[in-house]
Amino acid sequence: MGRNRGAVATKASNILGISAYYHDSAAALLKDGELVAAAQEERFSRKKHDARFPGDAIRYCLAAEDLDLNELDRIVFYDKPLLRFERLLETYLSYAPRGFRSFVAAMPVWLKEKLYLKTVLKNELAELAGCDPKKLPPLLFTEHHQSHAASAFYFSPFERAAVLCLDGVGEWATTSTWLGNGSSLEPLWEIDFPHSLGLLYSACTYFAGFKVNSGEYKLMGLAPYGEPRYVDLILDRLLDLKGDGTFRLDMRYFNYCTGLTMTNARFDELFDGPPRKPESDLTQREMDIAASIQVVTEEVVLRLANTLHEETGETNLCLAGGVALNCVANGRVLREGPYENIWIQPAAGDAGGAAGAAAVVWHNYDEQPRRLNGDGSPFADRMQGSYLGPGYSHEEIRAELDAVGAKYSVLDDDALMTRTAQLLAEENVIGWFQGRMEFGPRALGGRSIIGDPRSAKMQSLMNLKIKYRESFRPFAPSVLGERVNDYFEQDTPSPYMLIVAPVREELRVALTDKQQQRFGIDRLNLKRSELPAITHVDYSARVQTVHEDTNPRYHALLRAFEQLTGCGVLVNTSFNVRGEPIVCTPTDAWRCFMRTEMDYLIVENFFLEKNLQRAWEDDTDWQNEFELD
Ligand SMILES: [Fe+2]
Repeated sequence: MGRNRGAVATKASNILGISAYYHDSAAALLKDGELVAAAQEERFSRKKHDARFPGDAIRYCLAAEDLDLNELDRIVFYDKPLLRFERLLETYLSYAPRGFRSFVAAMPVWLKEKLYLKTVLKNELAELAGCDPKKLPPLLFTEHHQSHAASAFYFSPFERAAVLCLDGVGEWATTSTWLGNGSSLEPLWEIDFPHSLGLLYSACTYFAGFKVNSGEYKLMGLAPYGEPRYVDLILDRLLDLKGDGTFRLDMRYFNYCTGLTMTNARFDELFDGPPRKPESDLTQREMDIAASIQVVTEEVVLRLANTLHEETGETNLCLAGGVALNCVANGRVLREGPYENIWIQPAAGDAGGAAGAAAVVWHNYDEQPRRLNGDGSPFADRMQGSYLGPGYSHEEIRAELDAVGAKYSVLDDDALMTRTAQLLAEENVIGWFQGRMEFGPRALGGRSIIGDPRSAKMQSLMNLKIKYRESFRPFAPSVLGERVNDYFEQDTPSPYMLIVAPVREELRVALTDKQQQRFGIDRLNLKRSELPAITHVDYSARVQTVHEDTNPRYHALLRAFEQLTGCGVLVNTSFNVRGEPIVCTPTDAWRCFMRTEMDYLIVENFFLEKNLQRAWEDDTDWQNEFELD
């Protein structure tokens, strides 16, 4: 409706969801119940996991539909700050006087900003709109886990589903279960702070020397190098896990209620010494901790999923919350769990809460019915492939590339696909910038760096010369959706790269006895399969299936590569360097291209060859620009 609405409209039709002030700020716009735009603030501010007011993300969402902020029908925030404050206050009081230090550290921020968050938000919005705060559209608040659950269910392809949300903590809940049916989403039960699977995982992330809230992926990637020798210890001492998957943590080993770190000296004692210092060498201990917490996480998620199935009888499961980004656990739920179908919100973390909050308002507050995608297929969801961010026209791209002095040629689609496929087969690393930017942490062929998965040198080349990151981290495959089962032990779509599946037996390369004896990171450079760049040490891969209807251009490239080589798979990693948010604009892409040893950059039909560009002198110390994650 927007500018043409006139006087006829009575029902809310443009709802803006916001998540902010915790981590991963984002905005999402729901137009007549359809998610039409969504983006994380970090992509615009270029500060990873930016938690500030998402002014640029909001501006983008409004511009995408040519709206002014005051034309919105409602604005909704994904969390209830007073409940969060109540949780903090009660936690501090129940641990007093031990919690005093973190109480003092946290409270000034809370008192100044978060407790008065409604006022802060209104002022920010009013400034953005250039109006008096009193004249803004109505501002509503949903609960944190309700926003997660809504992001999982309402955008899923299912008419009915059980919904499981797992994260660190929002207000009180750390685990919540729901029953979705049509436009209703009914809470079942929850597990509350401080008992949190997400925080236990984060505690291990912290202890292994990685950053909490961003290093969880690294811990998951490290797990296959380790032996799960701490599983019994974790279950005996840290986590009291019941048969139904519910759990309690023994808080004597953790410090997050009372201090400024995740773990304490008692935790150190259990795990043979103090936490690993960030950026120091990884030892077998960290790998074993990673392997152990991964096993425990999978066990908890599987048991909870089973219990929820027994209680509801539902055959579909929706997942959201930060823990739902644990794609190894998701793969096990898919293969071993009782559900026929599972669907995971691609922006499973707090960013997705912005979309969920907007959907709560539309379906629950405005009582609008839910529409499913036409064909009733279990995979026709309502996320548009998660390509919900900014896209750029031919003219806009030309203007940006001219402004930075880039040398390019313009190829038609056929020439572009053929040439790119050829260059990939010659082991070039290519920046691939097409269509709208992805919403959520994964690059899905909109803002990706791609390469040939058959190449033996591709993994270390991409890690060390392009991404400047730890060499143990695996890369993910993009595979033609129709051929996923030719390469992986999986026959269902995984369009959001949120499910890990085994590489098919016949593609694997058996290790010699001598190789078998290698431990930990020494196993890194052994060829594991015919697709070494995407096969993890345990023969697993984090699969993205590519489909013609949601990403026709990436699909066409995969087809061209397959025609040339017989291989329907590419390596796909996000278009950024370590510590940098994924690129958003053509200029961001150009900068990343020039700073790294990427060979070619393709922006829609613009074709850029590194050798033809001027020497890069703009910034030599650029690696200091991004704080390491
Ligand atoms: Fe959350």
